[in-house]
Amino acid sequence: MNPSTKRNLAVIGAQWGDEGKGKIVDLLCEQFDLVARYQGGHNAGHTVKFEDKHYSLHLIPSGVLHPGKLCILGNGMVIAPDALLSEMAKLRASGVTIDDNLLISDSAHCILPLHSELDRGRERIAGESKIGTTGRGIGPAYEMKMSRFGILMRDLLDESVLREKLTAALLEKNALLGQVYGGDTFEVETLVQWGLEHGETLRERIVDTTLILHQAIRDKKKIMFEGAQGTLLDIDHGTYPYVTSSNCTAGGICTGLGVPPREVHEVMGVAKAYTTRVGEGPFPTELTDEVGERVRVRGNEFGTTTGRPRRTGWLDLVVLRAATALNGFSEIALTKLDVFDEFDEIPICVSYQTPRGETRHWPKTDVERGKVTPNLRTMKGWKRPTVGIATFEELPVEARDYVRFIEDELECPISVVSTGPRREETIIRAGVLSR
Ligand code: IMP
Repeated sequence: MNPSTKRNLAVIGAQWGDEGKGKIVDLLCEQFDLVARYQGGHNAGHTVKFEDKHYSLHLIPSGVLHPGKLCILGNGMVIAPDALLSEMAKLRASGVTIDDNLLISDSAHCILPLHSELDRGRERIAGESKIGTTGRGIGPAYEMKMSRFGILMRDLLDESVLREKLTAALLEKNALLGQVYGGDTFEVETLVQWGLEHGETLRERIVDTTLILHQAIRDKKKIMFEGAQGTLLDIDHGTYPYVTSSNCTAGGICTGLGVPPREVHEVMGVAKAYTTRVGEGPFPTELTDEVGERVRVRGNEFGTTTGRPRRTGWLDLVVLRAATALNGFSEIALTKLDVFDEFDEIPICVSYQTPRGETRHWPKTDVERGKVTPNLRTMKGWKRPTVGIATFEELPVEARDYVRFIEDELECPISVVSTGPRREETIIRAGVLSR
């Protein structure tokens, strides 16, 4: 394909989320006309630092911080209208304009207050086998969608449809909440009023976003697809059941927005220079000792959404190989390299030892059963500050070797290296940013 026809780009987390996608999306935004999210909800979270201001985003793409960009919340998302309105209010209070630059798919599913109760209720009774969810109601909202009695965003605009659907849903969900989880139940009328009020406030924004995207494609506008969470949290390809309830991988773009695969021209993976995950589930390169704590503190690895300390570990190339293959990464942005500035040595996991021998490719079942041990290759640390370095040549040779080793192993170029939270603290080597 001629590079000039490669208009549209997806930005996708290559690990278990929190890779720093927010900064990368923010950095790339200027080149695009539209930014669209295709899955997840307010379980996501990132902070964008911009002109001495910090913006906390959960549902709204960081494109909203850039005047003139249209932001779309796609049909594949689950949207809590109350969370959306409070995020909009906070952004407005910090001077961000939100008018007709934010649209919501009328087919996105709605997260009602009962969904977070269901989420927390299930986690409470699950004991040891809990998932460690964000408690935002994501799983229960997607469950209702798949069971075909979910409440759509467009239902918030139609009182009789909303009442009918809520009556049916509460019949089942109140029994679960009251009798199984031993928690609060909900009144149909209270939820109808809640839904109508929020629907009314958002009315102008609730539209068929698929039609808007199709028109943008016909007009040859440039679209960025913003992934939330990460590849290993994908409901189909992640570390099931310790995953989120949506398709975070590139495949989710087509169903979650209604755009055809041939319109996803390039896919950028975002990976941290090490690995983290929040919540339960397998993590082969996890560090549970003081080294892990050092990474956590240096990397400030505490959740934006829940404040939970993140689990930390060495970079895992088996994970990144799987992510590269699943998403078809055309390039990778490597973030938080500076976290290793004071380390003498930096091990990288190149393969796993399994009961059947060594493998370089994601052995799903063995990972699930805890039967893999990482084979580590130790790289020399650079022992110099790299924070804020903006050219690849200025990086210490050991840091350049670290980056080159990863791209050689993955057979995928690392086009962006992030050396700090700010826009200017970024090395741009090649790829989408320089095309
Ligand atoms: P849920 O998405 O709230 O159902 O949580 C399911 C799993 O995904 C839990 O392990 C969460 O910690 C994890 N998770 C959900 N959203 C994010 C995110 O944005 N970053 C990292 N982990 C996430």
